[in-house]
Amino acid sequence: MNELRKIKRLISARRSSQWSSGKYDWQKPFDTLRHKWVEVPTTRSGRKSTADLLSLSDQELLAEWTTSRQDITTGSEFAHRGWYHTLYAESMRGKKLLDIGSGFAIDSITFAQHGAKVTFVDLARSNLEVVQRLCGLFSLKSTSFILMEDIGSLHTLDMDYDLIMAMGSLHHAPVGIIKPEVQELVKHLKTGGRWLQLAYPKTRWIRDGSLSFDKWGEMTDGKGTPWAEWYDLPKLLHLMEPTHFDVVLSQEFHNSDFIWFDLLYRGNKMESKFDE
Ligand SMILES: C[S@@+](CC[C@H](N)C(=O)[O-])C[C@H]1O[C@@H](n2cnc3c(N)ncnc32)[C@H](O)[C@@H]1O
Repeated sequence: MNELRKIKRLISARRSSQWSSGKYDWQKPFDTLRHKWVEVPTTRSGRKSTADLLSLSDQELLAEWTTSRQDITTGSEFAHRGWYHTLYAESMRGKKLLDIGSGFAIDSITFAQHGAKVTFVDLARSNLEVVQRLCGLFSLKSTSFILMEDIGSLHTLDMDYDLIMAMGSLHHAPVGIIKPEVQELVKHLKTGGRWLQLAYPKTRWIRDGSLSFDKWGEMTDGKGTPWAEWYDLPKLLHLMEPTHFDVVLSQEFHNSDFIWFDLLYRGNKMESKFDE
């Protein structure tokens, strides 16, 4: 309980100081994020603008995506994205999957190739256009594409997703902005469904010098990144309250550069109390 109060106090302190005083404007959070995120991570440390990717020929775009996946999942980078492709891909057949902040969709296209029906959601139209073109080139049919203008864009999503995944997307804005987004997303997850998230752990933040989150964003993801915030399990579960999740995995990996959450959705505590 004390821990919960501490987190609430931290959130409100952060809201009043860092949000307004940093160089990024959080009054229109999704515009601020969109300004940066018209580029997507491609290789282990590289990013490309999706306008540039759209100017490639089909062959070149396919080669770019295929090389990116290889770079980020094999050899020493098996410990980056390869392990969870291996762990989850075979279980994806027939599953309805929502990828929030799909970027270059290295993970979600891979899961689509293993039979998942994927809804790709992103803030930037050009990012989605790249992914849509790739899905066409890979002849992936069970796909849909949602441009997220703001949280309202999520209202019309189906209500029966088996999985929601957020790979490196939701830690790029202050938790006070992300909480309503998470709350909306969870409404679209089946009871018994899974929440998969890749984020940055506190260990990395401390190792990098405990910078303010606007400065840390620029360190982790390059110039113009408005925010990067560490996550741990209590913080994530707090964002999801009053819904209830069991923890399948909560694990730092790749030399604590990342943290993985795999949570099993048990439903809404408030509703189940009401039902009793
Ligand atoms: C660091 S990239 C990660 C892309 C991809 N998921 C991956 O694993 O490589 C962040 C992506 O998430 C999107 N994004 C950032 N913040 C978001 C938010 N709050 N909601 C939805 N998408 C977001 C960006 O447009 C961008 O495509």
